[in-house]
Amino acid sequence: MEELRKRCEACTACPLSQTRQSVVFGVGPVPADIVFVGEGPGAQEDLQGEPFVGAAGKLLDDMLSIIDLGRHNCYITNIVKCRPPQNRDPMQEEQDACIGYLEQQLRILQPKLVVCLGRIAAMRLIRPDFRITREHGQWFERGGIAYTAIYHPSALLRDPAKRPETFADLLSIKKRVNQ
Ligand code: URA
Repeated sequence: MEELRKRCEACTACPLSQTRQSVVFGVGPVPADIVFVGEGPGAQEDLQGEPFVGAAGKLLDDMLSIIDLGRHNCYITNIVKCRPPQNRDPMQEEQDACIGYLEQQLRILQPKLVVCLGRIAAMRLIRPDFRITREHGQWFERGGIAYTAIYHPSALLRDPAKRPETFADLLSIKKRVNQ
């Protein structure tokens, strides 16, 4: 994993490499039974080089604690490892340039469960036409790994009405973690 991190930190495969402060590769134990995948680093993450350290990250920590997890026992990363300017969605070409890193991370991590945080990760990892409002909390098998998607913590900050549904999704994840 450290070799892969070094290669990723030197990456110039897409234009996001020109505006980044840091590559945000991922954090957590190797291997890991459960991996959380967001869309891409924001401003705080770009400055600190760690995923989910801003406001959304604080909420993610609370969500993890609901299912008895913390940063020490799950792996956290993103679809793209460099910050898209103005926090726009990562473009298809940027995702294509970066996805190989995540694929290799998953091969090394050998997780049982992958939780997509938000629609961008779900559309990339579960199905291109994934509908987060209809399909959050459902489980999908892909290559021996169980995938699910929940609302992105930023969406929950913007719209607290989505929180009860997410709480139910988290309980379903907790059940699988303990299986
Ligand atoms: N949002 C994401 O999708 N990823 C991060 O690392 C931070 C915020």
